[in-house]
Formats: sequence, C-alpha cells, structure tokens
Amino acid sequence: MIRPALPVLASLAFAAGLMGASPSFAADGAQLFNLQCKTCHGAKSTPMGPTLAGVAGADIAGRDDYAYSAGLKAKSGTWTDAALDAYLAKPMAFAPGTRMMVAVPNAENRAAIVTYLKTLK
Ligand code: HEC
Repeated sequence: MIRPALPVLASLAFAAGLMGASPSFAADGAQLFNLQCKTCHGAKSTPMGPTLAGVAGADIAGRDDYAYSAGLKAKSGTWTDAALDAYLAKPMAFAPGTRMMVAVPNAENRAAIVTYLKTLK
C-alpha cells in the first residue's frame, strides 16, 4: 500500500530539486555584478568607470587613475556599507551631479552586490 504515496514523494523531490537548482531564489552578488556593473567597472579604471577593486572602505572618489565628476568628488568620507547602499539605491540623491546613472532599486540585490564588492581586491 505504499504506491499512492510515491507520486507525492516524487513531486516533493522535484520541487526541492528546482529550488536548489535555481540561483534566482537567493540574490547572487557576483552574478548581479557581472550583469549590471562589469561593463563599466573592470579590473582597471577606464573612461567608462573606475575599477572597484578595493572600493569597500576606500575614500569616496579617491582613486588617482580616474577623473571623477565634481558631484562625487564633493562627497567626503569612505565607502562604508551604508554609503555603498545609499549610492546604489539612488546615485543622484547620494551625490548630485554624479555621472553614474545605474541604480539597484532592490534592497536584497544591493546587499548582495555590496557583499560581493568587499571581495574585490
Ligand atoms: C554605464 C556605466 C556604469 C555602470 C553600468 C555602473 N557604473 Fe558605477 N560608476 C560609473 C561611473 C562613470 C562612475 C564615476 C561616477 C562619478 O565620477 O560621478 C561610477 C562610480 C561608482 C562607484 C564609486 C567608485 C569610487 O571610486 O568612488 C561605485 C561604488 C560604483 N560605481 C558601483 C557600481 C555598481 C555596484 C554597479 C552595478 C550595480 C555600477 N557601479 C554600475 C559608471 C557605471
């Protein structure tokens, strides 16, 4: 009499497999960065954007190999988690006049990206 239970078990296993296999269930900072940031932020600074290697904890607009906007240069302080989160949420509100137009509206995705930025050396 175990037969009726088998389809139930099979569908549970199927659902669990789906959840484990799909990266979209948890925000993946590396994947988000590669999709949304890497075009402009590579291993070296380019006219498209400064490299973000070592950006976590660094001075805001602090690299000498990139010509920042006056807007971002006007910000003082360092890239704390909170500052990175605020800049990525609304770049123009954080630093009026910044040339970075890309925002990450989703808080969970921002947190994942900030965590990933800390691994960039
Ligand atoms: C279309 C190009 C472009 C994309 C895409 C982009 N950025 Fe930027 N980013 C810039 C530019 C240009 C600046 C310099 C802004 C300025 O000088 O005002 C910048 C600056 C920054 C800074 C400040 C760096 C410093 O040295 O102070 C951070 C942090 C940053 N971007 C994070 C990100 C993240 C994270 C993403 C992806 C979600 C991203 N950016 C996507 C162009 C881009």
